[in-house]
Amino acid sequence: MNIPSITLNDGNRIPQFGLGVFLMPAEETKEHVAYALANGYRHIDTAAIYGNEREVGAAIAESGIARDEIFVTTKLWNSRQTDAPAALAESLEKLGLDHVDLYLIHWPTPDFDNYLQAWHDLEQLRSDGLTRSIGVSNFHQQHLRRVIENSEVVPAVNQIEVHPSLGQFDLVDANTELGIATEAWSPLGRRADLDDQVIAGIAHRLERTPAQVILRWHIQRGLIVFPKSSSPERLRENADIFDFELTADDMRAIDALDAGNRVGPDPETFNRR
Ligand SMILES: NC(=O)c1ccc[n+]([C@@H]2O[C@H](COP(=O)([O-])OP(=O)(O)OC[C@H]3O[C@@H](n4cnc5c(N)ncnc54)[C@H](OP(=O)(O)O)[C@@H]3O)[C@@H](O)[C@H]2O)c1
Repeated sequence: MNIPSITLNDGNRIPQFGLGVFLMPAEETKEHVAYALANGYRHIDTAAIYGNEREVGAAIAESGIARDEIFVTTKLWNSRQTDAPAALAESLEKLGLDHVDLYLIHWPTPDFDNYLQAWHDLEQLRSDGLTRSIGVSNFHQQHLRRVIENSEVVPAVNQIEVHPSLGQFDLVDANTELGIATEAWSPLGRRADLDDQVIAGIAHRLERTPAQVILRWHIQRGLIVFPKSSSPERLRENADIFDFELTADDMRAIDALDAGNRVGPDPETFNRR
C-alpha cells in the first residue's frame, strides 16, 4: 500500500492515512490493530480516554514492525491539563513505548482555561524526547492564536471534526495559514454521510464505495484521516483509496454538501472532564 506522508511544521513526517480506535472496545482492539498493521496501516490514533492504549501497544509490540515505521498518536484528556507530564508517562507505560510520535491536547475546554499551561508542558515533553511532535485537537482560531502568541512552538496539527456534511473550510484554511496540518476526525461522519445521493452517484461512476469516495475527498483536500473500523473487510476497503482520483467537479460537489452538521460536541461548549 502506497500511503502518502505529509511533512509537519517541525520537519517530522506523518502518514496521511491511518486507523482511529475511538469506540473500539479494549478487548477487541489488539486484534483489529494487529490486522490493520498486517495489512499496511502504519499510523494509529488513540487517546488516554479511549481506554485502549495498552491493547494498541500490545499489537504494535507483537507486529514485528520496526518502531520508527509506525506513527502513534495519543491525547491528553481534559481532566489532566494541569498534569500533562504524569499523564503522558501513564500513556507511555500503557503503550509500552518510550515516546509517541504525536501528543495532542484533546479539547480546549475553555471554561477551565488550562490549555495554555498544558501547551507549555507539551513543549517541554517534546524537548525531553517523550513525543516527537505536539499538537492540539478541537481548537478554534482564537484558541490557536492564543497558544501561538504565548509560546515558542506552533502546534504541528489541529485534529478537528471534518466530513462532507461538516466541511470546516474556514478552520482548515486558518490551520493552513498558521502552518498547522489538519487531521479530520470522524472522516465518515460516523456513517452519517455514507448514504448521501451525491456521494452514491460518484461512487457508482467510479466503481468505488461511498466510504472510499469520502476518504479520497479528504486525501485530495490534503487532510490526514484515520477512519475507525472493527471489520477486516472495511479496514481493507478504507485503505484502498490510493489508486483513483476524484475530478475537480467531484470535489466541488462534495464540498457543497457542507451543512454545518456535527456528530460530536461543539468545542466552544464542551467542558467535560
Ligand atoms: N480528537 C477528537 O476529539 C476525536 C473525536 C472523535 C474521533 N476521533 C478520532 O477519529 C477517529 C475516526 O472517527 P470516528 O471513529 O468517530 O468515526 P468514523 O471513522 O467517521 O466512522 C466510524 C464508523 O464508521 C463505520 N465504518 C468504517 N468504515 C466503514 C466503511 N467502509 N463502510 C461503512 N461503515 C464504515 C464504523 O463501523 P465498523 O467499525 O463496524 O466498520 C464506525 O461505526 C476515531 O477513531 C478517533 O481516533 C477524535
